[in-house]
Amino acid sequence: MTGSTSSSDSTHSPWQLARRCERMNPSVIREILKLTELPGVRSLAGGLPSADTFPVEAMRDAAMKVLTDTPREALQYAASEGFGPLRDWVSAMLAAKGVDAPANRVLITNGSQQGLDLVGKVMLDAGNTVAVETPTYLGALQAFNPNEPKFASVAGDDDGPLPEGIGALPQGTRFMYVLPNFQNPTGRVIPAARRDALVAAAQRANIPLVEDNPYGELWYDDEPPKPLASRWAEGTLYLGSFSKVLAPGLRLGFMVCPQTLYPKLLQSKQAADLHTGSFSQRVVHEVIKNGFLDQHIPTIRDRYRTQRDAMDAALKASMPAGCEWKKPSGGMFFWLRLPAGCDAMALLPKAVEAGVAYVPGAAFYADHPDTRTMRLSFVTLPPADIADAVQRLGNVIQAHLATNA
Ligand SMILES: Cc1ncc(COP(=O)(O)O)c(C=O)c1O
Repeated sequence: MTGSTSSSDSTHSPWQLARRCERMNPSVIREILKLTELPGVRSLAGGLPSADTFPVEAMRDAAMKVLTDTPREALQYAASEGFGPLRDWVSAMLAAKGVDAPANRVLITNGSQQGLDLVGKVMLDAGNTVAVETPTYLGALQAFNPNEPKFASVAGDDDGPLPEGIGALPQGTRFMYVLPNFQNPTGRVIPAARRDALVAAAQRANIPLVEDNPYGELWYDDEPPKPLASRWAEGTLYLGSFSKVLAPGLRLGFMVCPQTLYPKLLQSKQAADLHTGSFSQRVVHEVIKNGFLDQHIPTIRDRYRTQRDAMDAALKASMPAGCEWKKPSGGMFFWLRLPAGCDAMALLPKAVEAGVAYVPGAAFYADHPDTRTMRLSFVTLPPADIADAVQRLGNVIQAHLATNA
């Protein structure tokens, strides 16, 4: 093995780099987001929350209050575990969802993405197996990859991963990473009965679960079932985020883990960044401490429900026969499967030329990608632009099918 950077990087270091760098690759999404900056391109690619949902006034007032009441504490180094009242808030919020999450097992992180990184560092050595869904969140693959694991893709259906897939995992599989609610990228929810069966299978196989739930509050039809962590607290490491219910630029998330894992996760958090920003933790706590989210989240749901319905209507109007999708009941994404003979990655340049961008689905598979799939975000553009973008996309697919008929 050489110490050079991945061949997909545009620069090569003259210095010897760590072997783990070979498994660090540019995120396809970040690369595609650059295309969306080209003039005239309507982007269905990034999972950027609508900036109109950010509670700017509440944040401004809270920042002012924090800087008036506790300015020196807010600007000082602080505990690695996180701001005590915010940890208490997380604990109470999860208790209402049936999760036993005492505050001393809550760790405040720099976004839930940091939680994924810490889990990888604490749980994975080179060559270990980590189980993931098919497909799964690209950012989790990126976070785990530098630890040089082997990925075992667990087959699934519209209700999520199949429990028998867990039973068939190799001995010693370190954990299974699962997204029960409005999965990124497919948008599907795991129903309650499947959650029970997955937890039972994981318990039998003695494989802990890493449950990632950034989208759970973004439901537009029915509230999703209770978390996996409510079924198996001792075996589930739960990750949450303020990115989709407040604002992603805050970089604020949290994890709740079994007591046995807490000290090592805390030590790896200390090594990574000492602690999450004191100021943003205090401001967010000030905003949410008196039930702000109970009023705020329904306004986000209303907005995104309208955008979701606009995308479903546009897909029905514009997609050629043979395209498949399911209307998601929450989250941010549609998952579209193109007819045979289409490759979503190969079609992307033509789509960008026609003024629309998306993320080819192949990026979300640990192995054996389905190259006919793509992820479309409905939260960034207003309904009229969604309709226009989807129509452009439909035309590109139609033209491709016509020339290859
Ligand atoms: C499934 C999933 N997990 C984690 C994250 C990271 O979120 P955060 O902003 O909390 O770091 C994302 C971001 O889009 C995501 O889709």
